[in-house]
Amino acid sequence: MFITAAGGGVLVDVDGNSLIDMGSGIAVVSVGNAAPHVVARVTEQVAAFTHTCFMVTPYESYVEVCEALNRLTPGDHEKRSALFNSGAEAVENAVKIARAYTKRQAIVVFEHGYHGRTNLTMALTAKNMPYKDSFGPFAPEVYRVPLSYPYRDGRSGAQAARDAITRIDKEVGAKNVAAIVIEPIAGEGGFIVPAPGFLPALSSFASSNGIVFVADEIQTGFARTGAWFACEHEGIVPDLITTAKGIAGGLPLAAVTGRADIMDSVHVGGLGGTYGGNPVACAAALGAIATMEESDLPSRARQIESIMVPRLKEMASSSDRIGDVRGRGAMLAIELVVPGESGTPAEPDPEAAAAVAKACHAEGVVVLTAGTYGNVLRFLPPLSIPDELLDEALVVIEKAVTTLG
Ligand SMILES: Cc1ncc(COP(=O)(O)O)c(C=O)c1O
Repeated sequence: MFITAAGGGVLVDVDGNSLIDMGSGIAVVSVGNAAPHVVARVTEQVAAFTHTCFMVTPYESYVEVCEALNRLTPGDHEKRSALFNSGAEAVENAVKIARAYTKRQAIVVFEHGYHGRTNLTMALTAKNMPYKDSFGPFAPEVYRVPLSYPYRDGRSGAQAARDAITRIDKEVGAKNVAAIVIEPIAGEGGFIVPAPGFLPALSSFASSNGIVFVADEIQTGFARTGAWFACEHEGIVPDLITTAKGIAGGLPLAAVTGRADIMDSVHVGGLGGTYGGNPVACAAALGAIATMEESDLPSRARQIESIMVPRLKEMASSSDRIGDVRGRGAMLAIELVVPGESGTPAEPDPEAAAAVAKACHAEGVVVLTAGTYGNVLRFLPPLSIPDELLDEALVVIEKAVTTLG
């Protein structure tokens, strides 16, 4: 379906059909599509000027976005922000900054991780198909260690962290590691929430070994998980944080925010790009952030969780096709499995996920699949969605799961 209009959790297609949006353009329009503050600020900005290149002739809105990021991201230490175009570009720059600061090269990432599709970020991304297959060779000095995946590994956060840290120590050597790059909730990997304690253990291992701890909050950030940033759920203060997606209500903008001493270690002119922090995207970000603050969207995300999780758990209790219900805030998922297997975890069932997604689309509900095994159905509604539409979407999802038999 091709879209002609969207807003309030609804997508309207060229034939006039209305679809309930449970994907937000992959976690982007958290404030809703064509959100009024975003539209007003963007309209004003395009009429004033569309581009100058911040590195040549700067403008105030770029600085205002950086100030907002420095204020909203975890930690009250002195921070700096730099703006880019896409999530992948932000992650690439976080790696550049960490390497310049530490004068080390190795980057540690995790199984099930996703960080983008550029050459370096393909190397950081775990899943081969469709992201990496036939696109190598990939960037060197990238080391992947196991993630905590409670449903499938049954380990505590402390055990999983011990395993990951042992791998780093034995196979890379902590003193060679510039950065540990991790999504606080693995997004494309299947909305995997690590067991409690996993992230704090890695963060403290990083700080005791002079390693830059980078939280990739490109999908989890900006109110999505019921806090401004998902790190806050476990009291983590990352050295660097990458953001994109939800930051600008649909316009392309990304950022690296972090400790001033780390960010300032890069030589003048070392970071940049023609369009990074484009004035129209900055105007959109200021509109989006104002909306999130005014409407307290972190608490709306928690409300969405409280509406959806009991319903999804109810579905799981009456269907052996749902192996796990997980996520935080308005970043929720069900993992579909082959029924009748003894013991847990059951075999992933990607066909079931595809069938449920297809059935939902046919009934006018846009849902997305995800997961290393392709068997996860993920829900990322705009935080502006009304309760009645959520309810309608849940009825459709339940019917689609039931028809799996
Ligand atoms: C956690 C994470 N990092 C990085 C990216 C890459 O962002 P972009 O597609 O804007 O390059 C994504 C996109 O899905 C993501 O979810």
